Amino acid sequence: MYDFAPAADAPKATVYDDLAAAAKALVAGEPDGVANMANLAALIWQFLPELNWAGFYRVIGGELVLGPFIGKPACIRIALGSGVCGTAAASGETQRVDDVHAFPGHIACDAASVSELVVPVLRDGQVIAVIDLDSPSPARFDAEDAAGIEALARIAAAAI
Ligand code: SME
Repeated sequence: MYDFAPAADAPKATVYDDLAAAAKALVAGEPDGVANMANLAALIWQFLPELNWAGFYRVIGGELVLGPFIGKPACIRIALGSGVCGTAAASGETQRVDDVHAFPGHIACDAASVSELVVPVLRDGQVIAVIDLDSPSPARFDAEDAAGIEALARIAAAAI
């Protein structure tokens, strides 16, 4: 059993430091990428409030393919450049969207989603996956969230 728990009422910076430490501990020595993505999605879900979806899409054969996640069943394949995830994957840049309904081409997997954060996972300069977080709250994600998930993506890059 693993018992990583976010400190109650901790400042966001502490939550992300603790999340990164837990992520490093969980993936250490484990070569299976699916197992590591599953545990990283579970950690995100445990540490961060106000989410309705958290998980991975992997770049396979020139498109994004659904990976391990927590939330409602989601779109399986997304073209690069399409929606928030496809935009992050095609550009290699984090996408932080306060209101997905205002994002051209947003792909609605869960009608509850209002804001979204998508962070590319880069290995050797190539996007190999994205980490996607959805929230039912508007503007749920700020720059600190983006930086925290980018740190997690760097840990994931060597583990998935
Ligand atoms: N909303 C995403 C699709 C993935 S789901 O949110 C899980 C997008 O526009 O790419």
